Amino acid sequence: MGLSPQGSERAGLGSRVRSSLWWNRGMPRPSVALRDTTNPLTPDESVAVLALAARAAAADGSEPLSEQFRLSVRARETDGVEHLLAVGPDGGVLGYAQSRTGEGPPSAELVVAPAARRSGVGTALLESLPHGIRVWSHASGAAGDVATAFARSAGLVPVRSLHVMGRSLQDGPAWPSASLDPRYAVRSFQPGLDEDAWLALNAAAFAHHPEQGSLRRADLDQRMAQTWWDPAGLILVVEAADPDVLAASHWTKVDPPGGEVGEVYVVAVAPDRQGQGLGRAVTVLGLDHLRALGLARVVLYVDEDNVAAVRTYAALGFEDVEVHRQFARADEVGRADPASSAAVH
Ligand SMILES: CC(C)(COP(=O)(O)OP(=O)(O)OC[C@H]1O[C@@H](n2cnc3c(N)ncnc32)[C@H](O)[C@@H]1OP(=O)(O)O)[C@@H](O)C(=O)NCCC(=O)NCCS
Repeated sequence: MGLSPQGSERAGLGSRVRSSLWWNRGMPRPSVALRDTTNPLTPDESVAVLALAARAAAADGSEPLSEQFRLSVRARETDGVEHLLAVGPDGGVLGYAQSRTGEGPPSAELVVAPAARRSGVGTALLESLPHGIRVWSHASGAAGDVATAFARSAGLVPVRSLHVMGRSLQDGPAWPSASLDPRYAVRSFQPGLDEDAWLALNAAAFAHHPEQGSLRRADLDQRMAQTWWDPAGLILVVEAADPDVLAASHWTKVDPPGGEVGEVYVVAVAPDRQGQGLGRAVTVLGLDHLRALGLARVVLYVDEDNVAAVRTYAALGFEDVEVHRQFARADEVGRADPASSAAVH
């Protein structure tokens, strides 16, 4: 079977061919066809890509593509999404990259079949991605080291690390009981009363964080309309003398409702009250709440550079479950907002 460019021209109307990407390793040269958003993957290609991702996940111990990217592999409408396939001599898919534009800098995820690694496929895909792209790696441990070595070899540097941390709610190291100064009291969020005060607390606590700090009333209402919304899970530390004044909050989440896993969704402490142990205390209150629901585990997402938060969680027995790293070209670093392409808590 013919290879690039003939092979990729057969890929269908609307596909654009990237050729002459690399050729120096004595390997069959795959064709790398770029399909635009009006030309989603065919059902056969979707199946092949998901099978490739599954083989990689089995080999690496981590999913190479995040949920949204996997969904877009199957989607018939691919708004802002582009797919790149690296196709081998027998027509099989050796590698896959997806890039997407939307809010923040364009981001991409890529994966190479375990049997086709170290033959330049990853480099070929990477070089075909749009300029200024940020590439996610979702692997930890040895597979994470490979992704980091690969990114470095391509001149990419890590710009963001998002840690998924977790712990058992039933076993493992005990967390201390919440100790609060008597001037504080604890209550749960009251819909219809606390929205504005909570938004102000959140905006102040996350003033440095464009995603979380820019949460508006409409965003809050949207979340409060979700099936997982439970005001009892949004715990407030308030002034005992004036319970309308919020000092800290811990929004816990159980999604799907009735599931086994809870989440530390958003922890916020008013800036002028930080450094007094309120963050730890309110985190503990949320853990107590989730344990009382009978859940098995709790997880959270935290940016690595949020040192205070990472330390708080580690001291409460949370351990890394996964680390998601985002890489960018060294000359792009600083031009784009480092915290604009994923939800962070
Ligand atoms: C990371 C990944 C895409 C690399 O794909 P690949 O096709 O094997 O990469 P290449 O052959 O183009 O490697 C280019 C360079 O990266 C580095 N590299 C790649 N794999 C490496 C490894 N296992 N150990 C050390 N360096 C490695 C080397 O410098 C290599 O050049 P060399 O082979 O001449 O030494 C692939 O391992 C993969 O699919 N991993 C799972 C998904 C993932 O982590 N994606 C995120 C990427 S940021």
